[in-house]
Amino acid sequence: MATVISTINLKGGVGKTTTTVAIAEMMSAEFSKKVLAIDLDPQTNATTMLIGEEKWRELNDEENTLAQLFKDALEPDNKKFDINKAIQKRVSNVADVRTLDLLPSSLDLIDVQDKLATMSSGRFYAENPVDILRRATKPIIDDYDVVLIDCPPNLGIITLNGLRISDGYIIPAIPDVLSTYGIPQIISRIKQFSETITEPINAYGIVISKYRTQSTVHHSVLKSMKHHSDAPIFETLIPENNQIAGAAEYKPVSTLRQKWGYQGQFDYYRQLTKEIMKKAGI
Ligand SMILES: Nc1ncnc2c1ncn2[C@@H]1O[C@H](COP(=O)(O)OP(=O)(O)OP(=O)(O)O)[C@@H](O)[C@H]1O
Ligand SMILES: [Mg+2]
Repeated sequence: MATVISTINLKGGVGKTTTTVAIAEMMSAEFSKKVLAIDLDPQTNATTMLIGEEKWRELNDEENTLAQLFKDALEPDNKKFDINKAIQKRVSNVADVRTLDLLPSSLDLIDVQDKLATMSSGRFYAENPVDILRRATKPIIDDYDVVLIDCPPNLGIITLNGLRISDGYIIPAIPDVLSTYGIPQIISRIKQFSETITEPINAYGIVISKYRTQSTVHHSVLKSMKHHSDAPIFETLIPENNQIAGAAEYKPVSTLRQKWGYQGQFDYYRQLTKEIMKKAGI
């Protein structure tokens, strides 16, 4: 059985995508897992980090992205999505990463998201709107040890499709006042959703990202989070670092150290991945 983990936070720019891509690559190259990354965010950042923009355009023109899956749900008589064509095998710009596949996203998901939101029930749906991804991935999901889902910064229908198939989730957060503000709401909303579908969705923990050791704000917010947080906080802190930001660029490299950095960045992500795997029982 695949273990499915979503990455979520309502706050934008907190490192959701970077964390998802880094741990996907680590699980593949360092821990020999077969991994599927699912990009549910219309911003398509995880997709372009893993296959580059050129390949994404090609797939988008051929309608081989997740946008097509959700469009099909709006037009049940006209099903075009073919999961076997959409899944990209052996993705990542790192040669050492050999067992990571991707279900790509599309900018077109923005329109689909809006339509799904306005047509939330009734004759448009041949199926439950939060079950679209679950049904589509059913035939392939157990080909993988781990499935990692990069969610957009909202709790709309597309995100709920990701949570519907998740065993648990992680919340990347920058330890400052505004970035941590909505975390209790996310946790309680996901708890409600989990009760609605009567399946557990575990809050595996909060990933502290873009941490600035010199920042007194980061230091004190982290300290208070440790005392008051609704979810556990992973011990490994991911520092704010230029090379981590640079890893968003899709250019061929041989090793994960080359991509993420030799000054400890690789080791932080590796350590974090180990913690997450332990928490999720992988
Ligand atoms: N540890 C880090 N140090 C420096 N820059 C980082 C770090 N992590 C991520 N970044 C950069 O910060 C920006 C936001 O990160 P990322 O895209 O991962 O966040 P996100 O939460 O997925 O954002 P969104 O809500 O827009 O999807 C990106 O430009 C990324 O390259
Ligand atoms: Mg993102």
